[in-house]
Amino acid sequence: MSSKLNRQISEQEFDAKLSLADFVVGDSDDPLVPPLAFTQWRQAGAWEATLYEPELLAAANARTTINYEGRPRSVINLCSYNYLGLANRPEVITAARDALAKYGLGACGSPLLSGMTDLHRQLERRVAEFLGREDAMLFNSGFGGALGTISGLLRKTDVAILDNRSHLSLRDGAVLSRSRVDRFEHNDPASLDAALRRRKGRRQLVIVEGIYSMDGDFASLDGLLDVAESHKASVFIDEAHSMLACGANGRGAAEHFGVEKRIPLVYGTFSKAFAAVGGFVTGPTETLDYLRYYAHSYAYSCALPPAIVAAVLRALEIVGREPELRDRLWANANYFREHLNAIGIDTGASTTYIMPLVVGDRAQMYRLGHELRHRGLFVAPVDYPADRSHAGRRVVHHRSNIQIARTRRLDRHPLLPQAWISIGELLRETEDDAGSGEPPRLSLWSCRRTSLLLSQFKREHRRHGAAHGRKRARQCRWPACAPHEPEKPNGPRH
Ligand SMILES: Cc1ncc(COP(=O)(O)O)c(C=O)c1O
Repeated sequence: MSSKLNRQISEQEFDAKLSLADFVVGDSDDPLVPPLAFTQWRQAGAWEATLYEPELLAAANARTTINYEGRPRSVINLCSYNYLGLANRPEVITAARDALAKYGLGACGSPLLSGMTDLHRQLERRVAEFLGREDAMLFNSGFGGALGTISGLLRKTDVAILDNRSHLSLRDGAVLSRSRVDRFEHNDPASLDAALRRRKGRRQLVIVEGIYSMDGDFASLDGLLDVAESHKASVFIDEAHSMLACGANGRGAAEHFGVEKRIPLVYGTFSKAFAAVGGFVTGPTETLDYLRYYAHSYAYSCALPPAIVAAVLRALEIVGREPELRDRLWANANYFREHLNAIGIDTGASTTYIMPLVVGDRAQMYRLGHELRHRGLFVAPVDYPADRSHAGRRVVHHRSNIQIARTRRLDRHPLLPQAWISIGELLRETEDDAGSGEPPRLSLWSCRRTSLLLSQFKREHRRHGAAHGRKRARQCRWPACAPHEPEKPNGPRH
């Protein structure tokens, strides 16, 4: 840590050059006392920090309400994992309510000793069946499950080889296992090959994600699997963000790329498209039998609440019979990305429903975050350590997670053009401000172009709206016009 950080930060101003990476080592003898510089930096950045831990005042639907600056504010929700809109589906809630009435609130025990119910067993079987695997086991946390699985499988003499954009749950799991940890460049088969060669002679596990949670790009599975197979290394995939929402049947990125048979162990969470909480791992019975004893976050932690298990079972059933939910999610995502890119907004490598809005400058990112919330758009700031590096250097961004809106399509949302303008205006300002020596990563933007695009956008929508009514929407060829679900008279509004 630089000596500057052991001193008091004199000016009470947020120092945007610093991130959490700068405060890992403190100056105090007592572990309960955080570094003084950190506390001051946090205090000086209090306004920036109010973007974190926002309070939702309603369900995590596409349109929701948050508490912003002490007042309820209606926002378009681009922060949520509720990709398929299952969090508030009446059938899911009914299933949870019925289970709550029958089983009570909690599982009241570890699955190994007393927390397993018939519902848990049923879900294990359903997950294994759904993914065409021998067995599955459930965790009460997505993070804990990934951590427990990796740390349970690997021994001190093994090597974990992770993509350098891997989620912290996977990295922490590898560290906890005390195995050697190596990394390869994001999605780079040559770099994976080099890492595997470096660690030759040891048991190796290659760890990848289906869709990367910060960049929103897919793993390059074909190339990476070829390399892993050539070294006889096993592969573990975390499909947290891809499960249910991608692949012809919702079985994730491995299904999408037709490589399921080449990946023996699949991990997923119930917190993303399932819209609940928890995680699961699925694969050979023999492996899971071992893990039931060695994954500490399984054996030594309370089982999922039965109401959650019942809700997840119902979610799985719904997604099985409504593949159109996925189609709508992808139509919304593609539509949103196309329009962002058309007005010069950098969405990085994203090809999915997770899209970074790359800002690149920390102070601007926080300003943009506040401005967008003011204007009714709810996006999440992503800073170190969630975003460690981008093209060789740290680049902060906002993350937008697209989801389906059940009663109103994204492309008809009256706030969206306004939101795009907000993003565009602020990015332009960043360019104007760029005197810092760092070249801005932001694309060119002009106000004239904004208003031109906005009027085009409005015309396009008017024409499109007049072209057909609701009934004919299903046949519409306009890319963003995905099928509607009928508006339910008493259903939740978005
Ligand atoms: C790839 C990946 N794995 C694991 C997790 C942890 O899941 P959870 O939020 O359910 O704890 C996340 C969370 O975002 C993730 O992105």
